[in-house]
Amino acid sequence: MRNALGAIQSLLILGGSSDIGAAVAERLVPDGCQRIVLAGRHPEAMEAVAERLRAAGAEVAVTAWDAADIGGHADAVKAAWAALPASDGNGSGDIDCVLLAAGVLGDQAQLEDDPTAAAELATVNYTGPVSTLLHVTRRLEEQGHGTVVVLSSVAGERVRQSNFVYGSSKAGLDGFCQGLGDSLDGTGVNMVVVRPGFVHSSMTAGKEAPPLSTTPQAVADAVADALASGKHTVWVPGTFRWVMAAFRHLPRPLWRKLSARM
Ligand SMILES: NC(=O)c1ccc[n+]([C@@H]2O[C@H](COP(=O)([O-])OP(=O)(O)OC[C@H]3O[C@@H](n4cnc5c(N)ncnc54)[C@H](OP(=O)(O)O)[C@@H]3O)[C@@H](O)[C@H]2O)c1
Repeated sequence: MRNALGAIQSLLILGGSSDIGAAVAERLVPDGCQRIVLAGRHPEAMEAVAERLRAAGAEVAVTAWDAADIGGHADAVKAAWAALPASDGNGSGDIDCVLLAAGVLGDQAQLEDDPTAAAELATVNYTGPVSTLLHVTRRLEEQGHGTVVVLSSVAGERVRQSNFVYGSSKAGLDGFCQGLGDSLDGTGVNMVVVRPGFVHSSMTAGKEAPPLSTTPQAVADAVADALASGKHTVWVPGTFRWVMAAFRHLPRPLWRKLSARM
């Protein structure tokens, strides 16, 4: 349960080695988030994050979860809940917030030449999260409370021809999470969809930063603000709300020309 000040006390990060995910956890620990589960494919990468969070005072467990292993999601979600026992030692503790931070960007030209790789990217970014989030929200509904925070992207708001494989996977994820969030109204479970622009992280290392680029810490601040205020949609930076509203309404021929250069 959230503490008396309304701050979350426990967090599950799906994609536990994500730079943005780590920044969110580091931002929330001083506010009272003391129990954290990092779930992902590579324990050694997550242990490095776990050590930083333990040094900041949190209790941290690392568990296995592969977005692409759809048949394994039920057990992976169960294991994540079991990883942090209840503080009284009886059964599993509650998880106040689940952050979906897994994702792959891919290289558009390579993906167009390799349809299997394109479909695998869609599995990690969209189909895998569909399965995982249905297991997660069922568990949160059983608890009667919880917030799911999903890292979508401005790339899904209007898909560009220069990265339509990634962009369409985020569009699917974003739409799924909006519908799932609405379906949970009245259950005590909330959904927060976060749409960052270009973030300086491992995912974008070596790429030229476009205007309005931001940092994992800025995304973390926006997530912390949304958790405190109850926002359901977050743009990072906030200016993207208006930029994308304009882009969304551009006539198709104009968007085709403009997005070829973006
Ligand atoms: N960076 C940006 O510009 C940006 C902008 C908008 C949205 N986002 C979104 O924000 C999220 C976090 O990105 P980031 O910037 O923090 O990048 P990151 O540091 O590269 O994190 C991506 C995470 O996804 C995990 N992952 C990849 N494939 C996986 C799989 N099959 N199963 C489980 N985990 C998997 C990676 O772990 P392993 O590879 O170790 O498994 C890593 O922890 C992503 O969803 C991304 O699409 C990023």
